[in-house]
Amino acid sequence: MASYAFVDHAFDVVVVGAGGSGLRAALGCAQAGLKTACVSKVFPTRSHTVAAQGGISASLGNMSQDDWRWHMYDTVKGSDWLGDQDAIEYLCRNAPDAVYELEHWGVPFSRTDEGRIYQRAFGGMTKNYGEGPIQRTCAAADRTGHAILHTLYGQSLRHSVEFFIEYFALDLIMDDGACKGVTAWKLDDGTLHRFSAKLVILATGGYGRAYFSCTSAHTCTGDGNAMVLRAGLPLQDMEFVQFHPTGIYGAGCLITEGARGEGGYLTNSEGERFMERYAPSAKDLASRDVVSRAMTVEIREGRGVGPNKDHINLHLDHLDPKILHERLPGISESAKIFAGVDVTRQPIPVLPTVHYNMGGIPTNYHGEVLTKAGGDPDKVVPGLMAVGEAACVSVHGANRLGSNSLTDLVVFGRAAGLRAAEIVEKGGKPEEAKAGWTDSHLARFDRLRHADGGQPTARLRLEMQRAMQEDVAVFRTKETLDNGVARIAAVYSQLGDVKVSDRGLIWNTDLMETLEFDNLIGQAAVTVNSAANREESRGAHAREDFKDRNDKDWMKHTLAWIDAPTGKVSIDYRPVHAYTMTNEIAYIAPKARVY
Ligand code: FUM
Repeated sequence: MASYAFVDHAFDVVVVGAGGSGLRAALGCAQAGLKTACVSKVFPTRSHTVAAQGGISASLGNMSQDDWRWHMYDTVKGSDWLGDQDAIEYLCRNAPDAVYELEHWGVPFSRTDEGRIYQRAFGGMTKNYGEGPIQRTCAAADRTGHAILHTLYGQSLRHSVEFFIEYFALDLIMDDGACKGVTAWKLDDGTLHRFSAKLVILATGGYGRAYFSCTSAHTCTGDGNAMVLRAGLPLQDMEFVQFHPTGIYGAGCLITEGARGEGGYLTNSEGERFMERYAPSAKDLASRDVVSRAMTVEIREGRGVGPNKDHINLHLDHLDPKILHERLPGISESAKIFAGVDVTRQPIPVLPTVHYNMGGIPTNYHGEVLTKAGGDPDKVVPGLMAVGEAACVSVHGANRLGSNSLTDLVVFGRAAGLRAAEIVEKGGKPEEAKAGWTDSHLARFDRLRHADGGQPTARLRLEMQRAMQEDVAVFRTKETLDNGVARIAAVYSQLGDVKVSDRGLIWNTDLMETLEFDNLIGQAAVTVNSAANREESRGAHAREDFKDRNDKDWMKHTLAWIDAPTGKVSIDYRPVHAYTMTNEIAYIAPKARVY
């Protein structure tokens, strides 16, 4: 093995990831007087939060009366009762304050005529415990994530968060079950860095790129999730992968659900507004799992549009061009660029596309990472937190409602900062790294850097992405999932035969993509195995051979570990938190979902 020297750093808190949750957490820690670093593989304002379009949910009540309890009811129902209700209460009751905080920091929200924050309708958001749709999603046109990300970056700089930009995080420094820091590779000069910290907060986003077609940026490789797996800790509920109904056909780019919130609708090849059959009440604004399944059935039954009858039309052409210009300028442009359509005159060709991972690193609502050990299903891992899409709090359960993601980022980013202020001692140095703590990090890095097998990374990655797309799709059966398990295991077994051509350390994108692929394949393995294991249908996990939700046997979170050398996945469970945080709302008992 080549010899490597680390550049050492010491911080109270190191946040990995500079999207909405990472920046909000870093900002909170810095405001609390903690010496805080933020390590990111991309420039902060290029993080994937920038792509969030439609908005952020909070019961502000600007368009009509609203209540955080109604928001909570919708979120529990949307999660198909797999969400932890204490965490969901925390999310919904804190959402308005988190949004006002953003407003005061400068997020340029769209406005009502009275000057209040504009709110639009989104799927699954209702008034009075399911009575009818409500406008709860606060929007900055259709560029809400962009506006939030830029504001949070500015505020983080103002509060002296120290940024380490274009540093690729390698692994967690663990000792005796506690996290002591993180290592990283600086992409532009090839140096390796060791960050010692009293607390590491993972805010590394989802792993959409395990699939062939997704709305996620190419950077969404779940690097934090993979570091957690390599640290011998479990990931939770990885079988629940959300397909957004309206990815642009062929390109996969997102067309916001806000388009349907503003009055857009879907049609099949017969020009029929088919959602009326599947969800007579919510129609095109049913939750995403329902709409994606309906679109898939329409296509399967021969009513798809286009020469191959393989997609669906989204109509905005009946809407006032002024509204399109004011509220949906971004997607009007995307539709022109990626589908060649003028939304004022033509429908947009769309297809359900992988969009969000409900699963991730198990945490409580303070952001503290949990594992199951010694009979305790909620054992806190000292020194480690996770927030945002990387985390599974679990507020989204089996299916996330649109616009609850940005809320999750800022509410739990803020919660992590508040918790850090309580548990991290100010001043003094973190424990110094001991010999041996990072040997495995360097061994992996060096092995992949010098990998000289017969399989280019791009080939293995494509095999993984195809297998996930075809076999862990909107609808699943034992046959497709068993096939997926075998295909992913076959790719995993070829890891030892991967080929990296560039041996350099400076801007070595070949090595970086290989490290990312190594991260993705572990997550693909736990996803497909968790999906094959769950013999029921719930939320985004739709099994054609187990069509019903089975609360008796499956009202539980999946925990999945991987044995990195072999790729063998082992599974256990955690109970769902069937209790709320305060007695201001009672536990919401499971019911059949009616749309
Ligand atoms: O459709 C959208 O604008 C996406 C929002 C979300 O995933 O929360």
